[in-house]
Amino acid sequence: MSLEEELRLVKEKCLLCEKCPLSKTRTNVVFDDGIPNGNLMLIGEAPGFYEDKEGKPFVGKAGQLLDKIFNSVGLSRQKDVYIANTIKCRPPNNRDPLDTEKVSCREYLDRQVEILKPKIILLCGNVSLKSFLNLPYGITKARGNWFEGPFQSKMMPIYHPSYLLRNDSREKGSPKWQMWQDIQEIKRMYERLKS
Ligand code: URA
Repeated sequence: MSLEEELRLVKEKCLLCEKCPLSKTRTNVVFDDGIPNGNLMLIGEAPGFYEDKEGKPFVGKAGQLLDKIFNSVGLSRQKDVYIANTIKCRPPNNRDPLDTEKVSCREYLDRQVEILKPKIILLCGNVSLKSFLNLPYGITKARGNWFEGPFQSKMMPIYHPSYLLRNDSREKGSPKWQMWQDIQEIKRMYERLKS
């Protein structure tokens, strides 16, 4: 079975999922976007208002900034990046996902990673970071560093674009400046590992 077919089967199951109460309030399940070629995967937190409406991850303001960040080093979701979230349905009022929701939804994310076996996984924001790495510190310290991930992947935590939208400075040492360093490092690793 091809990778796309395997993902389609998981998606079909996920679209019908009623394992947690978010299934009652969602408009759409937000399963994935981008290209599933196993080179680069980004894992965000949870769908927001616009994602829930469209059924696609990162389509709101944060998503537009994310696209800009990728584009700044010549990467795009059309040809390089596969995008998913830790949970697939929008939490009311965009609150952080509950542990129970993350546990219910984990089987879908685990299958996405298992099918894709990405060489690089970007953990976008604290929720995503904490779902994979048990560190005694958060995103501010973890970002920009490589960690060993599942299926011999390299994982890098990065700032969530919503955080960058709230911190506009581009001065040396600011979150936006750090993101610029990180995306250049990600591009270097991507070029080294891509098939
Ligand atoms: N924030 C996320 O973490 N994921 C989305 O899909 C949209 C906003």
